[in-house]
Amino acid sequence: MARSAYTTIAGVAGVAGERARVFSGIQPSGMLHIGNYLGAIQQWVAGQGQKTNFICLVDLHAITVPQEPADLRRQTRELAALLIAAGIDPAQTTLFVQSHVRAHAEACWLLTCQTPLGWLERMTQYKAKAQRQESVLAGLLNYPVLMAVDILLYDTDEVPVGDDQKQHVELTRDIAQRFNGLYGETFVVPKPVIRESGARIMALNDPTSKMSKSDFTRGHAIRVNDTPEEIRWVIKRAVTDAFGSIGFSADPARAGVNNLLQIYELFTGQSRAAIEAHFAGKGYGALKADVAEAVIEGLRPIRERYERLIGDPAELDRILAIGAAQARAVADPKLREVMERMGFVLPA
Ligand code: AMP
Ligand code: TRP
Repeated sequence: MARSAYTTIAGVAGVAGERARVFSGIQPSGMLHIGNYLGAIQQWVAGQGQKTNFICLVDLHAITVPQEPADLRRQTRELAALLIAAGIDPAQTTLFVQSHVRAHAEACWLLTCQTPLGWLERMTQYKAKAQRQESVLAGLLNYPVLMAVDILLYDTDEVPVGDDQKQHVELTRDIAQRFNGLYGETFVVPKPVIRESGARIMALNDPTSKMSKSDFTRGHAIRVNDTPEEIRWVIKRAVTDAFGSIGFSADPARAGVNNLLQIYELFTGQSRAAIEAHFAGKGYGALKADVAEAVIEGLRPIRERYERLIGDPAELDRILAIGAAQARAVADPKLREVMERMGFVLPA
């Protein structure tokens, strides 16, 4: 498949069409927690430099449910700052805000008119989200078309997502294939890359459920930019069990202690045997104190970089402007190609 010419712009690691393209999106709603960090972001960071990476802050997706304007604006900058602070390097990854690249909204209309309604009504996430709301916005139904556009505008090969997004990537493939069949080879057909369930960090106040962005109960999660005091407070109250011994375990009754040990393992990089030896004969009080310090130390550099970035919105906006320019250089020609195929008279 011919790939639209991708000129390398200063700062973009992508070399014209040679490396696999990876695209992922993340919504600027809620705050990143250590589950996001250990389960996803650490892997994005580790993969930098090997492939051509795009990470998009999907603010247009966020408004498919009602948003407070001031919150949306603040959360978009906060998420950008947190991602950079956590190691996403704008010199190696094109990090940008979806609404800064107009091609996304425009192409979304074009592909909306190429997507059978039945395909969208079948989406399980739509059905689940719609059920939870009194009034459902039309954008919520169209959400997967916008996601398809995100992916297709960049000739993406791989889309790393959680299991819940797999159906959306499959729909993206269907939309791409349908379009290619009608108008000629235009889109790369991407494949979903479902992360192996390496880390599944559980809620600290309820180790039977996953730590989640949308649960704001104090004690549920540790946010990536929480203060040391807050981290100690949350871990001190983490739910454990009555067994009184410390070891990794798959027993659901021991999920709380196992979760704490996993967090310790991922932050310290020590082996399980070394960790179990370290805690042998100790009580849960000591376990919690050590886990809290490991998390505080692990997050300290992220928090310090975050504070610097969030205190300098002009610098943050400058970084995002560079990312948007890099993204436009790929997305705009692709949009023109799509319009040309569909029969539009292109503006001179
Ligand atoms: P979300 O918070 O659902 O927007 O997810 C953003 C990314 O973080 C996805 O790749 C998820 O798979 C990952 N993630 C979310 N929650 C957890 C968790 N509790 N443990 C591990 N990974 C998670
Ligand atoms: N829908 C995704 C989620 O909620 C976010 C997203 C938007 C995305 N556009 C994308 C993910 C493109 C991968 C590729 O997690």
